Amino acid sequence: MSKFRLEGKVAIVTGGASGIGEATARLFVLNGAYVIIADIQDELGGSVVKSIGAEKCTYKHCDVTDEEQVEETVQYTVRTHGRLDIMFSNAGIMDPMMSILNLDLADYDRVMAVNARGAVSAIKHAARAMVRHGTKGSIICTGSVAACQAGNGTVAYTVSKHAALGLVRAAAGEVGRFGIRVNCVSPSGVATPLACGVFGGSSQDEVEAGCAAVANLKGVVLKASHVAEAVLFLASDESSFMSGHNLVIDGDARDSDSIKISHKETQSHNTESDILKRNGNQENCCHDAEAVDFRRDFCSNKAMFTEIISSMISRVNVSGKQSS
Ligand SMILES: NC(=O)c1ccc[n+]([C@@H]2O[C@H](COP(=O)([O-])OP(=O)(O)OC[C@H]3O[C@@H](n4cnc5c(N)ncnc54)[C@H](O)[C@@H]3O)[C@@H](O)[C@H]2O)c1
Repeated sequence: MSKFRLEGKVAIVTGGASGIGEATARLFVLNGAYVIIADIQDELGGSVVKSIGAEKCTYKHCDVTDEEQVEETVQYTVRTHGRLDIMFSNAGIMDPMMSILNLDLADYDRVMAVNARGAVSAIKHAARAMVRHGTKGSIICTGSVAACQAGNGTVAYTVSKHAALGLVRAAAGEVGRFGIRVNCVSPSGVATPLACGVFGGSSQDEVEAGCAAVANLKGVVLKASHVAEAVLFLASDESSFMSGHNLVIDGDARDSDSIKISHKETQSHNTESDILKRNGNQENCCHDAEAVDFRRDFCSNKAMFTEIISSMISRVNVSGKQSS
C-alpha cells in the first residue's frame, strides 16, 4: 500500500480553519491530497495554509449557509484542479446552553443553517460535481454523538446532528449508484474552540478531563487528530465498500458503566442547592426554576458531561451568559 493514502486526490474541507477540520486538512495533505480549506475565518484559514504550505492547499472563503458560496467553492475546485474526490462537510457551530423551555428560535435557526442546511448544500454540490465528472468520490460529514442520542448538547445542536446523520443515509442511498460514498464521523467531546467556547472559554485541559471521564476506554484523550484519522480512513480507498455508515468515535461512552456511575454521582452531587451555590448568583438563578431544572437535568444526564463539565454549565445563567 502506498504511504500516501490520498495520492493525487483533491479535497474540500469545510470548517477547515480550526479544530477537527484543520487537523483533517493537515492529515489529508500529509497523505498526498491537495486540500481546499473552506471557512469563514479568513485570517485563520490563511495562516493554516501558510503553515501547511501554499503549494499543497489553498484557502477559500465559504459560508456554508450560503448555497451560492458552496457551489462556487466546488466549481472553483474543479476549475482549478480538474476534479473533486473528497468533500469533508465539517463546518459546525453550537448555540448557548439553554433548555427548550427558554430556547431562542433565532439560535435554533442559526445552528440548523450551518450544521444541517450547510451540510445539505455541501453534499449536493460535491455530489453534482462528482457525478458530472464521473468521479467515484467520498463524502464525509461530521456528525456527533449528538447525532444518535440526546443529552450531549442543546436541542438545536441535537436536532441538527440527527439531521446530518439522516442526510448522510439519504444521500448515500441516492448517489451510491454513481459509485459515490457518503459516510459520517461522530466524535464525542474534543477540546476545540467550539467545545471550549460553549463552556464559557473553559481550558482545553478542563474540557478534555470532563470528556475523558465518561469514556469506557481509559488512557486516551480524544483529540482532533483521532477524528482526522477516522475521516482519512473514510476518504481513502481502504473503506471503498463502506457507505451510509456512522463511524462513532467515543471511546465506548455509550451506555458504559462509567456513564452510569457518573450519572449516579452527578445526581447525588448536583442537588439544586449545589448548583445554585456553585453558580454564586442565586438571584439570577432562582428566578427561573425551569432553567435550574435544565441545568440539573443536563448535569445528571447520561451524556459525556461529568461533574467537571456540569460545574461549567452551572455557571451559565438563565440568559445563557456566563456568570462570574
Ligand atoms: N468539538 C467537539 O466536541 C465536537 C464533537 C462532535 C462533533 N463536533 C463537530 O465537529 C465539527 C467541527 O467542529 P470543531 O469542534 O472542530 O470546532 P471549531 O470551532 O474548531 O471548528 C469549526 C469550524 O467551522 C467554521 N464555521 C462555522 N460556521 C461556518 C460557516 N457558516 N461556514 C463555513 N465555516 C464555518 C468555523 O469558522 C471553524 O473554523 C462541527 O461540525 C462540530 O459540530 C465537534
